[in-house]
Amino acid sequence: SDPNLVERARAAKAALGDRVFILGHHYQRDEVIEFADVTGDSFKLARDAAARPEAEYIVFCGVHFMAESADILTTDAQQVVLPDLAAGCSMADMATAEQVAECWDVLTDAGIADVTVPVSYMNSSADIKAFTGKHGGTICTSSNAKRALEWAFEQGQKVLFLPDQHLGRNTAVREMGFSLDDCVLYNPHKPNGGLTAEQLRDAKMILWRGHCSVHGRFSLDSVNDVRERIPGVTVLVHPECKHEVVAAADMVGSTEYIIKALDAAEPGSKWAIGTELNLVRRLAKAHPDKEIVFLDRAVCFCSTMNRIDLPHLVWALESLVEGRVPNVITVDPETEKYAKAALDRMLALP
Ligand code: 13P
Ligand code: SF4
Repeated sequence: SDPNLVERARAAKAALGDRVFILGHHYQRDEVIEFADVTGDSFKLARDAAARPEAEYIVFCGVHFMAESADILTTDAQQVVLPDLAAGCSMADMATAEQVAECWDVLTDAGIADVTVPVSYMNSSADIKAFTGKHGGTICTSSNAKRALEWAFEQGQKVLFLPDQHLGRNTAVREMGFSLDDCVLYNPHKPNGGLTAEQLRDAKMILWRGHCSVHGRFSLDSVNDVRERIPGVTVLVHPECKHEVVAAADMVGSTEYIIKALDAAEPGSKWAIGTELNLVRRLAKAHPDKEIVFLDRAVCFCSTMNRIDLPHLVWALESLVEGRVPNVITVDPETEKYAKAALDRMLALP
């Protein structure tokens, strides 16, 4: 990357010292990760966000829902900065507060709302997290979805899983012994979610019809193709992938799990990784003794994660040095109260 920008980022970060704490998700570009004080998956970053109460500014190199969670989990005095406000998440956008309220009415009409516990993936807006908290549910991430579901089934008989159908289905079927028939898909664009009251009453898992467009591009063909190209390859995918991809893979886990699996892998071993490309490339570079390839032949970055680049980071840091706080992410107190209840339940999971 531009040596001048690297120098400016370094200088601005040094000038701010302990006043700034920079968090970086594993899908961020290398040029940004280089300046992160901590890196992590979304669970680790949610925990780490609160680790430096003395830092005035949290610069979140990730996407909007992560910055919102950081604002919820940090003190009122701390300000969370997202270097590019356009860094959203298409999956999080697939569940709006109005749609979810309407869904709850549908469950109420079917007579099942009082036995249904909402479990929302971290990849959701603060409004959805607040809905979850208000209705006695919890947040989960890809690294604790099983524990979150186990907890939820201790509280009630059914789970409304928002907004990623794949993480919900994969966890229920792969890790908890549910069948595909125990799951129904709630489509927010259809009246009553496209489901009858009977289907809702029979279901154990009510999955919201959301998905990640990045992980959605991996297919069964990608898996078969790479197994043909690289005999002996271990296929390791993120649980946001479709069920058929996860079922055909050898190992499944969050970004943090993927990193640890490759750290522990034997030299000479061969791996095809089904997750975002910045991370896969970084892992391939970090492990020259192993053959690590991207699961698909086509490249696929998360375009919104990629919006945070070095120019945006430099701009954010230099603005702070000059005394301006740009792109502050704030969650209103009422939303924060309920969203925090749901996040706290996740953080307290065994
Ligand atoms: P994790 O950080 O939980 O692995 O999730 C990946 C992701 O899609 C974040 O947007
Ligand atoms: Fe959202 Fe998928 Fe990008 Fe994660 S990888 S931020 S879920 S679009």
